[in-house]
Amino acid sequence: DVTTEHYFTTINDISKLIKPRKKFSHKGLYGHALLLCGGYGKMGAAVLAARACLRSGVGLLTMHVPSSGYPILQTAVPEAMTLTDNNRKHISGLPEDVEKFSVVGLGPGIGTEKITKTAIGQLLATSELPLVIDADAINIIASSEKLKAQLPKNKVIFTPHPKEFERLVGKSKNDYDRLQDMKEFCRVYSCYICLKGSHTAICTPEGKLYFNTTGNAGMATGGTGDVLTGVMTALVAQGYSLEEAAIVGVYVHGLAGDLALQKVGDIAMIASDLTDHLPQAFMALV
Ligand code: APR
Ligand code: MG
Repeated sequence: DVTTEHYFTTINDISKLIKPRKKFSHKGLYGHALLLCGGYGKMGAAVLAARACLRSGVGLLTMHVPSSGYPILQTAVPEAMTLTDNNRKHISGLPEDVEKFSVVGLGPGIGTEKITKTAIGQLLATSELPLVIDADAINIIASSEKLKAQLPKNKVIFTPHPKEFERLVGKSKNDYDRLQDMKEFCRVYSCYICLKGSHTAICTPEGKLYFNTTGNAGMATGGTGDVLTGVMTALVAQGYSLEEAAIVGVYVHGLAGDLALQKVGDIAMIASDLTDHLPQAFMALV
């Protein structure tokens, strides 16, 4: 429709949004992120999201993982604090005083067990924090009208790949309709969606659309989405608005992929290569 604003994100737009670090600052100014990620056999998703979150400027990071993930997280990510769920394999609850955190990122590796659905229900019922919702957390919310109705207004970014998008928003007739359906969903639920793909499309509650211009086919490999969850969660923790966090996060994630491409090529690229190039990507933007 002609009333909608459409944009392609450029390096100039994104650079202007980057918040420079203040000389007399301390970690308290950069937020405390909580990531609910990981499951038995998928603890790597939690490690990937955690490392990317730390490489994106967050002040403090706490992980809440199934208890079998404790030695894994503490070894692989010493910079993060790790809380353990009562359940060994799946997330089944939440940390105490969730409200002390600045943002919650959730989904990578969590699976769709009933106990995990209950934990997400508890989060939506008790917290007003901004949320970055990815992967199986999208699938869980997509499966329940009750959970959808509990989403806090103007506080949620969804980061679905096309299959997760279809579960959340529904099947669209064609690519054009899919964008219209995305706008309608964002309006109804007052949320943000990053529909991931070769040109990730970001939609705001007002129906503004941004198309990302970074990234490459080397990123079509397991775990790159988990890295994006970490990046975006860190940006929200630091006080970026959800709109800024969504477009900056997607842009810098793709830029890290483009920088990794120069080093490792697209065939050999793995998700950790993106995190390893986040430093260069952020340096190119300030
Ligand atoms: N060009 C540019 N970017 C790409 C391309 C491409 N050709 N292919 C993928 N990407 C980017 C996407 O934009 C997105 O940011 O890589 C990322 C892939 O994210 P996901 O599809 O979520 O994949 P990932 O999370 O790594 O998959 C692991 O998690 O979400 C679940 O169902 C998913 O089981 C899967 C698991
Ligand atoms: Mg994913």
